[in-house]
Amino acid sequence: MFKKILLVLLVVLIIMQFLRPEKNIAQGPSTNDISTHFKIPVDVQTILNKSCNDCHSNNTKYPWYSQLQPVAWWLNDHINEGKQHLNFSEFATYSLRKQYHKLEEVAEQVEKGEMPLSSYTIMHTNAKLSKGEKDKLISWSSALRDTMKAQYPIDSLVKKKQ
Ligand code: HEC
Repeated sequence: MFKKILLVLLVVLIIMQFLRPEKNIAQGPSTNDISTHFKIPVDVQTILNKSCNDCHSNNTKYPWYSQLQPVAWWLNDHINEGKQHLNFSEFATYSLRKQYHKLEEVAEQVEKGEMPLSSYTIMHTNAKLSKGEKDKLISWSSALRDTMKAQYPIDSLVKKKQ
């Protein structure tokens, strides 16, 4: 009985290898990328690339083990969910208010240590943020919000409190 179950599992696992999710790799650069609308310092871009953009952009760098099922599905879920919440490649399509709010969220998530997800940094140890890197992201987010405040009326960025 046990052997049969194992055999079935093995067959399922093999079949699963043929059912791969589509990869998150864009054909070319996005005109709506955050970097096309805001100046992003090189060191900040480097941090975003190594720690965030696998799940928050249209381009994921896939490690070898992501080719194996069910890892590929699991990863794909994270990417889809991450992009749904925040996609730096589509950032310019957001309303001003949403852009401003997402920047606030970036600082908050990084400050609290919620991002990058710990399930991700177990394998991507390099994506873990040092204190210095966290500070850089937080002050970049805050400086960018200041730039927006200088550029646009505050009502278009934050909802007025009643
Ligand atoms: C392994 C994939 C992954 C990585 C890497 C990752 N995130 Fe996320 N992120 C998610 C997922 C999934 C969600 C939505 C669910 C949640 O909040 O846990 C999310 C949510 C967020 C949100 C909340 C957006 C909102 O308004 O709801 C922010 C902000 C964010 N991430 C920023 C970052 C930043 C900044 C980094 C890099 C320092 C990063 N993330 C790295 C997967 C990831």
